[in-house]
Amino acid sequence: MCGINGVVGLNNISEVLFEGIRNLEYRGYDSCGVALMNKKHLIVRKNIGGVEEIFHRENILSKKSRVGIAHTRWATHGTVTQENTHPFTSCDGAFAVVHNGILSNYRFLRDGLIGEGHQFDSDTDTEVIPHLLEKHYKECNDVELALVKTLNMLEGTFALAIISIYHPDQIFCARRESPLMLGIGDELKFVGSDFNAFIDYTKNAIIIGDGEYAILSRDSYVVKSYLTQKEVTKSITKIEWDNEAAKKGGYPHYMLKEIYEQPQTITTALELDSASLDELAGMIQKSENVYLVGVGTTFYVSKFSKYLFSSLAGQFIPAISSDEFTSLATVDKKTLVLTVSQSGETFDTISALKHAKSKGAKTAAIVNVMGSSISRLVDKVILQGSGPEICVISTKAAFTQMVIMMLLALRLGLKRKVLVRKEFDESLAALRELPGIIQSILNERSGFIHRVAHNYAKIKNWLYLGRGIYYPVALESALKMKEVAYVHAEGMSGGFLKHGTLAMVDDEVNTIVFTPPCGDKELYEATLRSVEEIRARSGFVFGIHFNEKGRNKGLFNEELILPNVSPLVAPLIQLVIGQLFAYFTATSLKRNIDKPRFLAKSVTVG
Ligand code: F6R
Repeated sequence: MCGINGVVGLNNISEVLFEGIRNLEYRGYDSCGVALMNKKHLIVRKNIGGVEEIFHRENILSKKSRVGIAHTRWATHGTVTQENTHPFTSCDGAFAVVHNGILSNYRFLRDGLIGEGHQFDSDTDTEVIPHLLEKHYKECNDVELALVKTLNMLEGTFALAIISIYHPDQIFCARRESPLMLGIGDELKFVGSDFNAFIDYTKNAIIIGDGEYAILSRDSYVVKSYLTQKEVTKSITKIEWDNEAAKKGGYPHYMLKEIYEQPQTITTALELDSASLDELAGMIQKSENVYLVGVGTTFYVSKFSKYLFSSLAGQFIPAISSDEFTSLATVDKKTLVLTVSQSGETFDTISALKHAKSKGAKTAAIVNVMGSSISRLVDKVILQGSGPEICVISTKAAFTQMVIMMLLALRLGLKRKVLVRKEFDESLAALRELPGIIQSILNERSGFIHRVAHNYAKIKNWLYLGRGIYYPVALESALKMKEVAYVHAEGMSGGFLKHGTLAMVDDEVNTIVFTPPCGDKELYEATLRSVEEIRARSGFVFGIHFNEKGRNKGLFNEELILPNVSPLVAPLIQLVIGQLFAYFTATSLKRNIDKPRFLAKSVTVG
């Protein structure tokens, strides 16, 4: 939930540290702080606010240092105050620590340390760490040993970066269940929550595993187990992402850039190794019991996929939100748990996977971030290759996951003989058309969606309706609206409306309806029945529908007519409209698009 960065080099590293922590700001942006080693003294600066603001206000770039650590925070323990901002230091000022994760036994440790005379300045769980380091160092006069003793006392999760005046040319770091990796450059060594911390300088990463710690200096590094203190041999992971891809490239916001990247990410997905997809389809086929699992947007990806597996492969596969998985799923050795995650670091999804593994189930994942915890935890991983998604709100990653799920469902359909080869080939051909269609929708319809969004930006409540596979499209579009525009939006299946929510319809509740192509007669007519129900109560409806040759003239208050496309890809086209509608509503309301309030990109806490 927070971003950690550390840099050690031969010359002044303040600027490099600034760039790295700024690239991690999407992980949390309540407050920011740094600790720099100045000869044998620590300079600590921290405050509430974004990275640029704090570096500027605290004049951090003017400080010269060859070793430093930085942190950008998403608050869990303790409110957003300067005192609760990382780094934290020991009483004697010899250690500075930044932390991501949650320590479950911090109250116990804190009480003990206070009893021994340590003074605490914050309400955070993290602050126990520098005090424990100080205590153990006084006992053994050895920083590494003090670190090992400290780590073994901590319960809960952590990714840590530490500097100490006793080793002014080194950074110490450690990990348990919170992401952390090293960047191995020629002149500079890095530690970061993810490789956005150092991708501008090196593409060589070492992923720190659970139970490991590392010591970095300018020209060397070592990784060890904190249980045995034995060295662990690590191999270098080459980051394949292009650092230019993580820049805004002329777009006003990452969200818009990432929506516009979708034609490219679909093309990449269509080029994924078919043998690997086939293997996963085979795993589904062999399992007695399969679950689709994700949370937030990826739960909606899972719900979307549930419809695909039913319609294309004739197999009902339930979708469960990761946070509810342990309470709900029945898991055994014959179960396959197929998870979906952009970051590959989501606590709830990792917990679901661990639960499944503990029962002997097989696990698989569709993940965007290579080297992430989920990608390493599962038996089978499909790396989607959508490139860095910087905006906190997921668009291109989730969209591409839906396309990959289509490919998977088609392959399963073929295996289960629900589809014949001709149908499979036709579906693939329809998918190959998708990048071009989306490109022209983006080019030709954005202006219109902008206008509608702007005109209705003051509406405080939206109902998002869809039936069949358009229902998860409605849910996901409503989530986009909530998180980026802070506007209440409720996704609902059309049929559900009359069972209660219809009572809400008045001139303060607008509806947006995702209509299937009229060729899908039953679903189409059912969707229009919901629209009629609202219109009969004088409710406002914005209809998104396909070219119906004037069939429903006057039914909608506002309408967007889309070109006719194959029924397979039609819901995905509608989703792009949902994304743009949320984006333009948010820009009209002058929201913080790429970093909406209270959110963070990878939710690594439960
Ligand atoms: C919404 C969003 C979140 C994530 C959820 C899971 O736009 O980004 O709802 O989808 O936190 O995250 P990942 O996909 O990283 O597992």
